[in-house]
Amino acid sequence: NRPVLIAPSLLAANFLELGKAAAMLNESEADWFHLDVMDGRFVPNISFGLPVISQISKVAKKTCDVHLMIEEPEKYAEAFQKAGANMLTVHYEACPHLHRNIQQIKSLGMKAGVALNPHTPVGLLENIIRDVDMVLIMSVNPGFGGQSFIEQTYHKIAQLRQLITDSNAHALIEVDGGVSADNAGQLVQAGANVLVAGSAVFASADPAKTISELKSAAVA
Ligand code: DX5
Ligand code: ZN
Repeated sequence: NRPVLIAPSLLAANFLELGKAAAMLNESEADWFHLDVMDGRFVPNISFGLPVISQISKVAKKTCDVHLMIEEPEKYAEAFQKAGANMLTVHYEACPHLHRNIQQIKSLGMKAGVALNPHTPVGLLENIIRDVDMVLIMSVNPGFGGQSFIEQTYHKIAQLRQLITDSNAHALIEVDGGVSADNAGQLVQAGANVLVAGSAVFASADPAKTISELKSAAVA
């Protein structure tokens, strides 16, 4: 039985009440805080950055999983480590020197992840899969919460699970975008370990209860 972690994305929280959202996550069955950083360059949207993350990480009692949707992430890796990131994920498409970026993140003492846009094939990770702690499969185009899940993702997760097994690697598989209790079970069946959910959690009437429903739906 593979462990399945739930990582609610604060992108969908009420930013005027981030403290309340953090307290709710601390008390809930959530495993990680997922923090989405957008630069208006790599993705066509701007979210929040270092000052917000350093305040959240101070109150978070759980792993801070920072998803960088930015160009030149190597310029900011150290700053995100200082801001309290425990996991730092960079995009394959933003990193011509991905191997160096991954080593940099690990040498700063963080877990290192690589994210793939929906069109980026899993096979491109063949020569880096043993170096990363996590692969984030985007199941929507990055930049916005609340989009609908791309069905092709199941196949991609299965391909990645096969690559990890064949390579004797240990990377976690995180899925991000359009995740809800309706597809959580199938995602885990395909091979996912970590489920990110933004609007499914924060747009629901009872976010803590939704997290708990996701957790039960995600049992492998
Ligand atoms: C999208 C972000 C996601 C987003 C998911 O670019 O990476 O983490 O918050 O939101 P939902 O769960 O609403 O698709
Ligand atoms: Zn994300």
